[in-house]
Amino acid sequence: MGKVYVFDHPLIQHKVSLMRMKETSVKDFRELAKEVAMLMGFEATRQLPLEEVEIETPICKTKTYMLKGEDVAIVPILRAGLGFVDGMLALIPNAKVGHVGLYRDPETHKPVEYYCKLPVDVDKRQIIVVDPMLATGGSAVAAIDFLKQRGGTNITFMCLIAAPEGIEVLQKAHPDVDIFIAAKDDCLNEDAFIVPGLGDAGDRLYGTR
Ligand code: PRP
Repeated sequence: MGKVYVFDHPLIQHKVSLMRMKETSVKDFRELAKEVAMLMGFEATRQLPLEEVEIETPICKTKTYMLKGEDVAIVPILRAGLGFVDGMLALIPNAKVGHVGLYRDPETHKPVEYYCKLPVDVDKRQIIVVDPMLATGGSAVAAIDFLKQRGGTNITFMCLIAAPEGIEVLQKAHPDVDIFIAAKDDCLNEDAFIVPGLGDAGDRLYGTR
């Protein structure tokens, strides 16, 4: 079963609280998303494998450690996941970025795919899927299904706020995937919105409501 890591760092909790407030502006919400992505990304990348390499400092040759292999792919679930990309790229500038476009049908609450473009070598990369919200879990499960169909094996999922229902669904569907979250909320309401949550993350990032 994949592990669930809840980040209780005070800076993350403070920024998530600001993002939850309904009066927070689009500009502030976007900036906070970037900041939280950086703080979370710092921890979520803790398990990246290293390899020993020999380098030469101005003083002498020495052995040291660098990231191993083909590096990282960040995969935002469109569109709200885009809000996490800049923060992650600030940490890992050489990461490649794949996009999975899904929206949740307002009637059925099921994810509908409309776009998928991934790095060609995604199967060799450490993949970090990002999306601010894990509600029913349908979108995360579908996105990770696509990645596995294209050879992805080493996948983690990072989100801001998760409902217990979504965590359970994701863990059952993809028990190999670790889940990194900033806050575990109470439940879903009848519209499948996270309670207390922060509303619709896409609308809050892009001012579409
Ligand atoms: C939201 C959110 C997730 C999804 C979570 O996206 O960003 O992708 O819902 O819900 P789930 O766990 O029940 O699948 P939305 O469908 O609102 O699309 P958007 O990002 O384009 O706004």
